[in-house]
Parts: sequence; C-alpha cells; structure tokens
Amino acid sequence: MSTERRLRPPGLAYGGDYNPEQWPEEVWAQDMALMREAGVTMVSVGIFSWALLEPSEGVYDFSRMDKILDLLHENGIAADLATPTAAPPAWFFHAHPEALPVDSDGRRLSYGSRQTFCPSSPAYRTAALRIAGALAERYADHPAVVMWHVHNEYGCHNSACYCDTSAAAFRKWLKAKYDNDLDALNEAWGTAFWSQWYHDWEEILPPRATGADPNPTHRLDWRRFCSDELLSLFTAERDVIRRAAPGTPATTNFMVMHNFDALDYWRWAPELDVVSNDHYLRSTDPESEIDVALCGDLVRSLAGGPWLLMEHSTGAVNWQPVNRAKNPGEMRRNALAHVAHGADGIAYFQWRAAKAGAEQWHSAMLPHAGTDSQIWQDVVQLGADLRALAEVRGSTSPAQVAIVWDWNARWAMEQPCQPSAELRFQDLVRHWYAPLWEAGVAVDFIHPDTPDLDRYRLVLAPSLYLVDDAGTANLTAFVERGGTLAVGFHSGAVDENCHIRLGGYPGAFRELLGVHCDELFPLLPGVQVALTGQVPQDATADLWTERLRLTGAEAVARYADGPLADVPAITRHAYGNGTAWYIATHPDPTTLAALLERIRRQAGVRPEREVPPGIEVVKRRGTDADYLFLIDHAGRGAEIPADGVELLTGKPVVGSVTVPEGSVAVVREPLPGPSAE
Ligand code: GAL
Repeated sequence: MSTERRLRPPGLAYGGDYNPEQWPEEVWAQDMALMREAGVTMVSVGIFSWALLEPSEGVYDFSRMDKILDLLHENGIAADLATPTAAPPAWFFHAHPEALPVDSDGRRLSYGSRQTFCPSSPAYRTAALRIAGALAERYADHPAVVMWHVHNEYGCHNSACYCDTSAAAFRKWLKAKYDNDLDALNEAWGTAFWSQWYHDWEEILPPRATGADPNPTHRLDWRRFCSDELLSLFTAERDVIRRAAPGTPATTNFMVMHNFDALDYWRWAPELDVVSNDHYLRSTDPESEIDVALCGDLVRSLAGGPWLLMEHSTGAVNWQPVNRAKNPGEMRRNALAHVAHGADGIAYFQWRAAKAGAEQWHSAMLPHAGTDSQIWQDVVQLGADLRALAEVRGSTSPAQVAIVWDWNARWAMEQPCQPSAELRFQDLVRHWYAPLWEAGVAVDFIHPDTPDLDRYRLVLAPSLYLVDDAGTANLTAFVERGGTLAVGFHSGAVDENCHIRLGGYPGAFRELLGVHCDELFPLLPGVQVALTGQVPQDATADLWTERLRLTGAEAVARYADGPLADVPAITRHAYGNGTAWYIATHPDPTTLAALLERIRRQAGVRPEREVPPGIEVVKRRGTDADYLFLIDHAGRGAEIPADGVELLTGKPVVGSVTVPEGSVAVVREPLPGPSAE
C-alpha cells in the first residue's frame, strides 16, 4: 500500500453504500439527519449510477451527484466516490453487443442486471475509463471526496468470459508468460497427452465446455489470466483517477469470504492504496464468527496492516436459499470482531433498504421499518462504539503463527479429476485455523514466498497441494534456521505447472518431513479411521489417508484400523535447527486441536490470554497501549484478567474485566515503557 495516499478521517470510519438516486430528493435531507444521529462518517456513493451519470455516450449529467456530494459535505460526512463501472448501461450494450460476456458453453448473456460485461472487451475498457476520467476530473477537488472506490467487487459475477475477444487476450497473456515460446507452453501444459499439442498460438482457446476432462494446466493458466485481466482494468481506472486526483487514495472492495476464489489477491493488494473487503455470513454456517475472524486475518495480512470493511450486513442478505436474520447482539459482535482483526472502518451494504429492485429484501442500516426497529437501535449503538474506539485506528496485530495461503494452490487442488473431489482449500485451512482461534492464538496469513519468516515461531501449511521451488526453499530454510513447520496432507504434490513431483509424495516436502508416501488413500464420505499413539483417546480421522513410510521422521500417531492399520499418520522430524511435522490425514477437531496445541507449545507460542470457551480474544497493538478485544459468542459472559480502561464504557479495569453476556469488551492496556513508569 502506498504510504502517501492514505485515508485520513479521524478515528474509525463508519457508514455504508449510499444510493440516494433510488429515492426522491425529499428523502435525502432525512438521510443526512439520520446519518448524523448514527454517527456515520463516510459513505460510498455512485457505485451503480452509470446510467444516470452518462445517459448516452459521452453526455454527462452530474447534477444529481453535485447535489449529493455537496449535501454530504455540508453535513460533515465524507464520500468514498465510486466509479460506476460494475454496471454498464443498456445504451452501451446496444452500441457494443460484442461486449456482453459468453459463458463456457458458448451462451452469450444479456444485460439487465449488473457486472455482465466481457473483461477483455476494448469497448468496455474505453467506456469505463471515459466515465472514470470524467468523474475524476469533476470531483478531484471536491472537499467531500476522501477516497475513490474503483468499480465494485471485481469478478463477483463475471470472473471469466469465454468469447473470441477473451480468447485473443488469453493468447496474448500466454505469449508474454511463455516468452513467445510455444514449445515451452506445450511442455508446461503437458499437451503430449491426448493429442493436445499446439502447433500455432491461434489454436489455443479458453477452456470452453468440451467432451471429456480438461487439461489442468490450461485451466490453471486460465484462472491466472482471468485474475490478471480484471486487475489490469482496476489499475487502468486507478491510473486515470491518479492523474486527476494524485493525492487521494483509491481502493476496490475485495471479497475475501467463503466461496469466492476468482482473484489472486496477493497480486492485487500491492496495487491498492487502501485495502478494503466485503464479508457476508453464510446462513448455514453454525460458527460464522470463525469465518469473520479468518477472513479478517487474511485481509489484514494482504494489506500488511489495517484495512477497511467496505460491506457487510446489518441483518439478512437476499441471495442465499434461506436468509437468516442476525441474532440479538450478533451485528455488534460481527462489526467489532472485524475491528479486532484489523478493520479501521466499518461499513454496510447499504444505508437505506431498497423498496424496489433485485435487492429489495436485503437488510440495511435503515430498514424498511425505519427508525422504529432493532436494527436502527443497533446501528446507532455501533456508531457510539466506534467513536469510543477511535484511538484503536492504525494499531496492528502481532502474531507468532502464520498460515500459508495461496490461490494457485487452491485453484489447482479444486480442479476436476483429483484423487478426491471432497477437498476444499478454505475448509481445510479453517479446520486448522479454528482451534487456534478458539485458543486465542493470533494468526497471520502468508504467501509461500513471503520473506522474513523468522518473525514467526510457527508456520502452518494445511494442504498446500501446489508449491513452486522458491516456496519450497523458503519454507524449508525457515525450518533449517530453527522454525517449526506443520504441513497438512496432500501438500507439495505438484509444481507451479501442476506437474506431479515424482519419486513419492509429499513431493516438495519429502526430505524436509522425513517421510515417503507411495500411494494416496482418500476416504469415501462417511468413512472414518481410528488413530492411536500420542493422540487423545477415541481419536479419529476422515477424508484422507496416505501410505506413509518413515525416512527420518518419528511417528507421533498411526492408523489403528482400516487398510493402513499401523501406518504412520502424524509424524515429527528434526531438520536443521528446527522441526517439521506432517499431518498426513484429516483428524477430528478435538484431535487436531490437541495436536496443534502441543505443536505450538513446543514452538513457544502462547495464547493472548487464557479465556473460557466461546470468548474470542484478539489483541491490537498501538504505539503505547495494547487493545484487548474480548467477544462473547457463547452468551454466557465472563470475567477476564485485564488492567487498564474498558473503552466502550469508559470504566477503569483493575485486575479483571467483565464481558457481558453476548457482548464485547475492549480494554486499553498500557504498554510498559517510560511513560508508564
Ligand atoms: C455485494 C455487492 C453489493 C450488494 C451486496 C449484497 O456482493 O457488492 O452491491 O449486492 O453484495 O449482499
């Protein structure tokens, strides 16, 4: 992130998407009054306003936006001004029907919703840069505008287009990647298989629907291309804005949340001045607070520090089969958990609940019922909370444990025709993250190539299926120098081209782990095996097993039954000055928790504070104080050792703080130092 272009409102930002164009002007004055009542400090405007801002090509109507920005400014509310390029108007597609995207079955989609355009379309790029440029020029110096919100959730609905224009762009990307060497591409893709050899670049297509199974490297390169193609749209808009408004930061809202996996955000994050994220709960997730924490830690790691929560919901969304409302106190717990995990601002989709349109059943800060509602009371309460936490802004979150996260590994492992279709990267990472979260152990996420791993005592790599030689060397050197690494099953299996690392699994990590596997034994759904050894009684595992032989490691646990009875399942290997563990199966949650506790204790990692089950504990570190966040997800309340000041109530804390049932406490604990002496 750039240091010079930072968001500078005081305290923690608070607000949401504001779409006043959906309402008559008389409503706007009421919006302003209510925003002030709730303590709103910043709203995102104009996200889907293209058709009104540019009613026909090159003809602009800024009258409404002028009024909105002036009104916000008069009311002391900052604007995060969007480029409206996620929703091209109907007139654009009438003039450029070729800019509509084509799906993998060859079906061209129609306009009539949003984000239905081909990312490689030259006409789209021209039109997007034109409206972005016109907005930037007009509002570069508007006093309300503190940030630019480029587009909206790149790739949310159109992460890939399979049209001929996209095919040509893909070939261009491939030529650059393979240095114009078609043989190198053939080698990387393994095209000697099934007569797929390409003799001419023009023969290469996107991975469109085909009769049998696709080529894995073709698909992997396609996913990399699709992410890069959208990234180039972002940087092009950002640069147009920078020319007009060089000092104002630009962001775009990421979607680091459960099933969205279209973009390699490690490549995106350095291009943003401010990293922001959207996060929605899954109604069917019984422990969605763990998802909030995991995604918050991942975004904080991408940002390398504080970030902004650009969207989440006050209550139900409208796009799941059944849309659960939030439980009492859940909205506040969610928002403050995002702050605990590094958010310096909290925003919602959206300010005022829509009465028409596809999202009319989506919750908002101001619900259909108006101010006579629980949600409104909670919104006002949260505004007060965020004011009370203003000093938390800019503080960081020190962690001694890092989890390896790589979109390439995720894409590769979730391809078709794998040993098991049951493996989901994010679920496997969460399986390991959950016990750390429960124990109150802070976690960062890292890329396999992240330098300076020595700041961590423990690195975890749950199922890092794909890893290149540089990543392998980086993780191996960390252990050699004295670090502790725990590797999950089916790791190191393939290189960056999805080529299997020969000579036995887990390919890249065989020597480091001191094990050798000659055959994988994935388990059918519902099948369990028992574990024995240094594991809790009744320990079991499911999903995955491997026929492992020790080549230097010691067995910590073995399978007690099934075809692999007596084969090592969990191993430990002294390597260089460090230790490398291999968890070659998918232990039940209790067993994994016990194992990770043992591993982290041996690595010298302690929780932030001992807390009872159901209490989330997270620390942010400021320049002269720690901020201890305690969140009660179990509804039982707790008394936790602490000293300082509880910021939400302003009360002094001596010896311990009370976390009320289902609620949150945030304690400022002064750091020992000259000022505290
Ligand atoms: C997001 C999107 C918003 C709104 C929201 C509803 O994906 O950015 O515009 O649609 O979902 O949950």
